[in-house]
Amino acid sequence: MTAPRAAIILAAGLGTRMKSDLPKCLHQVGGRPMLEWSIDLARKTGAERVVTVYGRISPQIGELGEANKTLTALQDPPLGTGHAVQCAESAMAGFTGNAIVLYGDTPLITPQTVEKVFAALELGASIAVLGFTPEDAGAYGRLVVKDGLLDRIVEFKDASEEERAIGFVNSGVLAAPALLLFELLGEVTNDNANGEYYLTDVVGLARKRGLKAVAVEGDEAEVLGVNSRIDLAEAEASWQRRRREDAMREGVTLTAPETVFISHDTVIGRDVIIEPNVVFGPGVTVEDGAVIHAFSHLEGCVVRAGADIGPYARLRPGADIGPGARIGNFVEVKKSTFGPGAKANHLAYIGDADVGAKANIGAGTITCNYDGFGKHRTVIGEGAFIGSNSSLVAPVTIGNGAYTGSGGVVTDNVPDDALALGRAKQVNKDGWAPRFRAAMQKRKAER
Ligand code: UD1
Ligand code: MG
Repeated sequence: MTAPRAAIILAAGLGTRMKSDLPKCLHQVGGRPMLEWSIDLARKTGAERVVTVYGRISPQIGELGEANKTLTALQDPPLGTGHAVQCAESAMAGFTGNAIVLYGDTPLITPQTVEKVFAALELGASIAVLGFTPEDAGAYGRLVVKDGLLDRIVEFKDASEEERAIGFVNSGVLAAPALLLFELLGEVTNDNANGEYYLTDVVGLARKRGLKAVAVEGDEAEVLGVNSRIDLAEAEASWQRRRREDAMREGVTLTAPETVFISHDTVIGRDVIIEPNVVFGPGVTVEDGAVIHAFSHLEGCVVRAGADIGPYARLRPGADIGPGARIGNFVEVKKSTFGPGAKANHLAYIGDADVGAKANIGAGTITCNYDGFGKHRTVIGEGAFIGSNSSLVAPVTIGNGAYTGSGGVVTDNVPDDALALGRAKQVNKDGWAPRFRAAMQKRKAER
């Protein structure tokens, strides 16, 4: 039987290098705050208790932790990573399983990697640390390994020349039985170059007790910590790459994957084709076999099986495009449903509308849904035909199979199968043009 698991997420740091009014861990990757990636990671690896450690200057971090149903602990003032974990002790009261420490600014770590760290404890280690070997070991804490076991972690500032030459470094992820972790933290002092209580000191303390510590090797790309906007962009690029590859593995065709931007909750079905330069905001589902043509922007919408979107389409929240329906170029759809096979092929705004199956909406059609005070609905019946350049002034209902004449302003409901003409009647004046030209030429000559 594996021991119960818990996670402590450290997010009380200042994040000064972001140069931002927004706390660092609230900056987004894949359209989701970095802190939520860490919480999600903890849960995916079976943490039954999750504690978010936040600072006084970033109460929003605590609030987001609570919104995600984690326990929270305030660290005020921040005195180092070891102190941060200690601040979570009362939130961890009564928990006797294994605890893992994660950071709120490392959004790319996978559950498989965290699983390896917990597994090391389950195989008998008292402490397990996730290490990696970066191209440039920079100022990371160095992992001192002796006879295959982790002997201690030396922070860069405190390291000797010899220790600084070690290429295997600390990612920050560390796991131990919770009770042991807090016991060891009680012995940590701030007698070091930074004057901080280092979490990393628990490794040396455990070794002194004859306990076994191990380092698990991870991948540099996963443990990337975000400290600046440049790191943030790198994390985003890396996340997007991973997500696009997942989509392709699941049977989605991306013609130019590097130009498609996906959100954390995007759902894309099998045999969907996505052309270049498509952006998925949050809350999008695309069902099997749909095609999203180039330069389309989608958020908060559903594209049903076999529908055909774009190029240059904009689907806004609440758009629900039915099976086999078609939304063409420069068509914007908001809070509207399209029935099976319905079409709006060119240049239209369809907002707050229900469009029946197989209805055809001509180019230039606008639903006039807003009167400056409220939004009103337009209902277009099955098989209705909306002539080009129509203004449908909501609330209004166009019946099943009805037609509206091109250029019409439709203010009254249209019965089923009727033709609505909402435009001025055309008048032809025979022979008018030559008379006009002659008059104008004469006037010009007289000037
Ligand atoms: C830490 C590790 C180092 C490791 C590196 C990986 C220690 C002593 N050092 O160093 O070995 O190589 O991470 O990136 O642990 N935080 C708090 N409260 C604090 C201080 C930090 O919550 O008082 C949080 C920060 O918000 C951040 C994380 O802990 O999420 C790491 O803090 P940071 O100051 O970046 O540690 P490093 O110096 O990078
Ligand atoms: Mg750091």
